[in-house]
This record gives sequence, structure tokens and C-alpha cells, in this order.
Amino acid sequence: MSETMAMMAKHARECAEEIRKFEEIQLVSHIDADGITSAAIISKALERAGIGSEMMFVKQLDEAIVEKLADMNPELTIFTDLGSGQLEHINNYGVHAIVSDHHRPQGENKFHLNPHLFGANGSYEISGSGTTFILATQLGNNRDLADLAIVGCVGDMQYRKHGKLVSLNRMILEANPSVISPKKDISLFGKQTRPVYKMIQYSSDPFIPGLTGNEDACIDFLAKIGLQFSNDEKWRRWIDLSEEEKTRVTSSLLQYSMQNGMSSYNIGRLVSEGYILLEEQEGTEMRDASEYSTLLNAAGRYMKAEVGMQVCMGNRDGAYREAQDLLQNHRKNLVDGLNFVRDNGITELSNLQYFDAGSVIPETIVGIVAGMSHYSTGNRKLPIIAFADKDDGYKVSARGTQELVNRGLNLAEALSIVCQELGGAGGGHDIAAGATVPFGKKEEFIQKLNSTIATQLIKT
Ligand code: C5P
Ligand code: C5P
Ligand code: ZN
Repeated sequence: MSETMAMMAKHARECAEEIRKFEEIQLVSHIDADGITSAAIISKALERAGIGSEMMFVKQLDEAIVEKLADMNPELTIFTDLGSGQLEHINNYGVHAIVSDHHRPQGENKFHLNPHLFGANGSYEISGSGTTFILATQLGNNRDLADLAIVGCVGDMQYRKHGKLVSLNRMILEANPSVISPKKDISLFGKQTRPVYKMIQYSSDPFIPGLTGNEDACIDFLAKIGLQFSNDEKWRRWIDLSEEEKTRVTSSLLQYSMQNGMSSYNIGRLVSEGYILLEEQEGTEMRDASEYSTLLNAAGRYMKAEVGMQVCMGNRDGAYREAQDLLQNHRKNLVDGLNFVRDNGITELSNLQYFDAGSVIPETIVGIVAGMSHYSTGNRKLPIIAFADKDDGYKVSARGTQELVNRGLNLAEALSIVCQELGGAGGGHDIAAGATVPFGKKEEFIQKLNSTIATQLIKT
């Protein structure tokens, strides 16, 4: 066990001791896949320890929600996958709290479990679900929940930096081989559930010129390499192919990519490590950590986080079917969002690029659309900033690249500096962050963010 893991486990033990003093606990978690898996992990751990709990999911934690919580006056609140950026509010309102999170810390708290406090980076070494898994292992024998911990960090794209899970995530993965297993395979999304041609058609990371977004070209590509892609009128999925067929598709795709001007970096991304949930049924979203996390996002980001949580708690009937319906809607919204960005364009300044989705793209998914557009329409040399309308101001979502982070970019820090000057609140990670900015201050915000980022970047 690494020193960081040992230190986190030690602090988790102290948090667990505090938790055991209470019979009924308020839980607050984030609505995305990492937040939902965190919520399921802590709920199961408490249930097994005979402690009651009440769940509350929020889009983000802000002062108003902390105030509302303080009015409810729970004896103890456990925040998962959020809270680290709002410790000041939590303390000011006297909320007795355990915070199990991986966002950039702002403020202090006695029971604050966060990788940044132990020298680890919460954008790729461990997520909210992994942090909460460490807490759960101190509450009892909960190692079987490691699969949910991995689904959460995959949902937060923590594999992106190295093309696979590393550090604390890797330790959680490798220590629990009976529930979760890594597998090197084609990186495209949908291996368990989607017809092979659709898997190629919807490839966004990497973007495959000529194939991404072009259904006919994908069907043609498979026909040309002699792949019989239907069986009894049914489209075959990746898992239905033989090993020989999988190799044929992968190598033909690599060859196609080389001939069609893809960068060697992107070609390398066509094959990567995936994560299989061994106790889940083949051919379902839950078998593959990436598909599972998208299913959860499809529920949570449309205010149906409880549905996702029920799936994590084992529901394979009503909640699972509802989540599948939500997934159809989510996919359509992502495609519409990407088309909006392509059609309306992105404005470039010296140190960032931005687009404003107004009310066309829901603010809860504008960050995902910004991240995906960054691989297609966007310029990878600049961070991408997206705006979308919400009730109390503009929602801002910012996404960078590893190369920019290596040069000093820290989006969480930049957003929080600018928000301090203009009003609003922001936070997150170096490579991906978000904020709410008051109406009427968009232009000023963009200019200030552009110059703040300029001071972060070391010119190369
Ligand atoms: O709130 P949270 O920590 O869950 O969100 C992390 C966000 O950072 C996700 O939206 C994820 O897609 C993004 N991310 C990214 N690139 C990375 C790591 C994370 O865009 N390399
Ligand atoms: O919402 P979005 O996906 O853009 O969020 C990116 C990252 O920034 C996430 O980790 C999210 O939790 C964080 N965030 C934040 N404060 C906000 C909005 C987002 O810390 N006001
Ligand atoms: Zn998270």
C-alpha cells in the first residue's frame, strides 16, 4: 500500500469513528456518475453498519443549499463528491460534516477526506467514489463496492491522462480482482450494447475523420473488410464478434486512421484499457464501466439521480428501464449539442476559446458537450469555455488538455480567482472546472479569464 493510501485510510478511520456515533445521517452528493456511485457506496456501507440515512442530490453545492441544509439541522451530514470547495459555508452555517471529495480544497474541516490533502491530484489519481470507497472500507467489509468506485472515476474520465487508471485508482482496481477487471481493447464507446457500426459512427475521442458522424461510411468500412455485421437481421455488437473479427476491425481501423491523417497521438487512443464489472451480465451497460457511467450521467444530469442510484443499489427492473430511456434522450441531446457548436462556431481569443449555448444546451450537460467539441470542432491548443443559461446566472464549463496543464493551466484556480473579482463561484480541477457567473458579466468574465490564463501558462 502506498503512503498516500495509508494516510487516507488512517484519516478515513477517524471519519468512520465519528460516523458511528450517529444513528441517522443526512447524505448530500453530486448528480453525475461519480456523485451517484459515491452516494451508493456510502449508503450501502451505512446500511450494512446499521446506520440510517437520507439522500439528497444536488447539481452543485452553493451557499443557498448549505443554508437550507443548516435549517434541516441534521446531526451529521456526509458530503460526497462535493463540499471541498465550500468548506467555508459549511463551517459558517455550523453544519457538522464529513466531506469525502476530490475537488480542489478551499477552506478546512476536521473531517475532510480529500486526496489533495495527502499529496495526490483529484483529477486523475482518485475520484469522489474512490475516496468514498476508502471511507466505506473503514466502516466495514465493503470491498465488493470497488466496482462502483471504478465506475465513478471512469465517469470523471480519470483514465484520460495516462490512457489507463493509475495511482490510487489503480490500487483500488488491482486489490479487488473478483469484481472488476482491466481489459485492453478497442477504446470506442458501446462495446456491450451498440451495433459495431454505431460504435464507430459515434466515436468522439478520438475523432475519426470521414467515419465519425457518418453512418453510411461506417457501414461501408465494415463491409469492405468483410465483416458480416448482422445476424438474423440483428446488428452485431462488439461483444458478439469473434477474437479474429475484433482484431480485423481494430487493425483495419488503425490502418484507415494512418491513411487519413490522424495524429499518432489520436491513433494511439484507438486502443486503450477498459474495465469490466465481473458480476454484471454481459450485453448490459453495467458490464462496462464506461457505459455504466454514461447510463448514470443520463439519469443524474436530468435530475433523476435517484434512478441511477437505484441501479447502483442493484435494481435491474423499473429503475434500470427508466435509466435506459433517459439514456436515449441524453444521447440525442449530446448529438444536438455537438451540432449546435459546429453550426454556431467557437470564438478564439489569445488564451482561450468559447461558445455560448444560451438555453439550447441544458446547463447540466454543456460541460460534456464542451469536452467532446474540444476533440472535433475545437482547437486543442486552447482551453475551451462554454456558457449556458441557468436561473441565477450563466453556467460556465471549462475544459483544458494535459499539455496545457503541464504548461501551468489550472482552470479551477483561474475560475475561482475571476469569480472572486466578479461575484459568482467556481471550482473543480486543473483540467476541468465550472462556475456560475452573474448575468450581464459575460464579456468581463471572458476578458479577465483570458488574462488570468495568460499568467498561468508558461510560453513554449
Ligand atoms: O465534478 P467532477 O469531478 O465529477 O467532474 C470532473 C469533470 O472533469 C468531468 O466532467 C470530466 O469529464 C472532466 N475531465 C476531463 N478531462 C480529464 C479529467 C476530467 O474533461 N482528463
Ligand atoms: O459542470 P462541469 O462538468 O463543467 O464541472 C466541471 C468540474 O467543475 C466538476 O468537477 C464540477 O464538480 C466542478 N464545478 C465546481 N463548481 C461549480 C461548477 C462545477 O466545482 N460551480
Ligand atoms: Zn467527481
